[in-house]
Amino acid sequence: MKTLIPILLVSTAMTGAAFADDLRATALEQFKPLPSTVPNVADNPTSPEKVDLGRALFFDPRLSASGVFSCYSCHNLTTGGDDNLETSIGHGWQKGPRNSPTVLNSVLNEAQFWDGRADDLKAQAKGPIQAGVEMANTPENVVVTLNSMPDYVAMFGTAFADDAEPVSFDNMARAIESFEATLITPAPFDAYLNGDDTALNDDEKAGLALFIDKGCSSCHSGVNVGGHGYYPFGLVEKPGADILPVGDKGRFKVTETVDDEYVFRAAPLRNVTVTAPYFHSGKVWDLKVAVQIMAESQLGEELSDTETDQIVAFLGTLEGAVPPVTLPTLPAETASTPRPTA
Ligand code: HEM
Ligand code: HEM
Repeated sequence: MKTLIPILLVSTAMTGAAFADDLRATALEQFKPLPSTVPNVADNPTSPEKVDLGRALFFDPRLSASGVFSCYSCHNLTTGGDDNLETSIGHGWQKGPRNSPTVLNSVLNEAQFWDGRADDLKAQAKGPIQAGVEMANTPENVVVTLNSMPDYVAMFGTAFADDAEPVSFDNMARAIESFEATLITPAPFDAYLNGDDTALNDDEKAGLALFIDKGCSSCHSGVNVGGHGYYPFGLVEKPGADILPVGDKGRFKVTETVDDEYVFRAAPLRNVTVTAPYFHSGKVWDLKVAVQIMAESQLGEELSDTETDQIVAFLGTLEGAVPPVTLPTLPAETASTPRPTA
């Protein structure tokens, strides 16, 4: 007996360690930890000056025709990088058609928007400024506005020193992209993937195992646990029109291919615990319910209450720390700054 006890203890410990290593190894086949430095973006080398300018632009409501809406209005960095509304409110208090996704970690999505219609963040940033239901502005008016403020002209001049015309709509978008690329939120799940076994508790690990075993990770994988790949919402069973409104055919509008009707990008799930309400329609406020809808509509599975709780617990480990963002002091308008329109 005396010799058996240590042997049993060692073998139990080894089994536990082997199990832990197995789960991590399996997880590492599907997911990637966040990079430890700000990721590079294609065709837009970063610099501190560009990031500072992008931060100012992100907070500046004068990019909108009314002078009311900034990027920050719908992507509040203190509440998960979204607006926590069913669908966003924009120009003239209009209610837009879709829920606002988070900008946190969005640089790591393979394409932007629920339907992936923008290739990257610099293409994306030009959209809301011109969208009638969001900021309702024109590129020309934005450039006149920025040129009317000497401090902005100086900031663009430093950030884009090699350009003949530093103040441009394209450079505005590049600067915003550089700022957004800094919004990376390392989470307990990253610590776990990087080897810290204590970063997830037993329920969270059980949730991770379920997330993989049930098949969630066949769509929600990679560094953003989603954000790449397009799938029909309702692959196995279409949710009701209350959750999947018939008027929004998703990727069909981008590709005009019948197969893409009601196809959407598998949502990136980092910080999902703080970005309610859920789905492009924003119709579901409870993450537990959203998980159950996914299991039924995408996998034809009914999850037990415990399984759902464990998956939700795992999703909680994707909630990360938002990097400190210094509130910018924006350049003051001048006599030639275009006045807000209604
Ligand atoms: C989507 C950034 C202004 C509402 C996005 C995405 C990004 C972003 C990066 C895509 C995220 C993803 O696909 O995961 C910005 C920037 C803005 C801005 C840089 C300022 C230039 C606004 C405003 C509103 C808004 C003012 C609300 C009035 C939305 C909505 C979507 C979205 C509803 C999803 C639209 C769709 O998929 O069709 N935004 N945003 N955004 N944003 Fe903004
Ligand atoms: C959206 C979780 C399986 C494709 C979502 C959302 C959650 C989620 C929480 C909403 C995110 C948000 O609104 O920000 C899960 C879980 C799954 C699972 C826990 C397993 C039980 C799948 C599978 C697929 C898939 C297998 C692909 C076949 C999608 C798509 C969306 C989405 C396309 C966006 C839906 C929309 O347009 O509103 N998922 N998912 N999911 N998921 Fe899943």
